[in-house]
Amino acid sequence: MKVLVTYFTKTGNTEKVARAIYEVIGAEKEFLPVHEVKDPDGYDIIFCGFPVHSHSVPLSVENFIKMVPPGKKIALFTTHGSLRGGNLATTAIEHAISLASKLNVLGTFGCRGKVDPKLIEALLKQPEHRAWAETAKSAVGHPDASDLEDARHFAKKVITMK
Ligand SMILES: Cc1cc2nc3c(=O)[nH]c(=O)nc-3n(C[C@H](O)[C@H](O)[C@H](O)COP(=O)(O)O)c2cc1C
Repeated sequence: MKVLVTYFTKTGNTEKVARAIYEVIGAEKEFLPVHEVKDPDGYDIIFCGFPVHSHSVPLSVENFIKMVPPGKKIALFTTHGSLRGGNLATTAIEHAISLASKLNVLGTFGCRGKVDPKLIEALLKQPEHRAWAETAKSAVGHPDASDLEDARHFAKKVITMK
């Protein structure tokens, strides 16, 4: 069995979670940013991670998911500034699942990731984003050790579902 852990990251949070997932995979494995994946068909299971951007999936990840051949096993993971299990994060992961509608989605995982203070500052000035930006402040320190442990647990569960 060959496993790919691929991700998009802007500030490193999603890459940290991707590494935690990668560490616990005992099979043949590869670790690559989405833009470096040449042939998604060359893997039995793909873990694909992204930061929530504007309540959705970044374009590079959307394009990656669309190029994965139908029927392929995939597990989706995300980091986000909003609350874990909250509406905003759920909307983004649901969008990713809909993009993967022709794939075999083995599971999903999400945890909080600290948000660039400059972005928070800018969003606080925009009334339509203020509520989200206030919440995002408390993502500081994430992903933390407990988030990474949860991510490892998720990866082990997915791998045993193969
Ligand atoms: C341009 C931009 C837009 C973002 N939009 C959202 C959002 O809509 N909802 C949210 O929960 N977090 C949002 N975030 C916060 C990121 O999802 C969060 O900080 C994530 O952990 C960043 O991951 P990364 O370090 O892998 O890039 C946004 C961050 C950036 C830079």
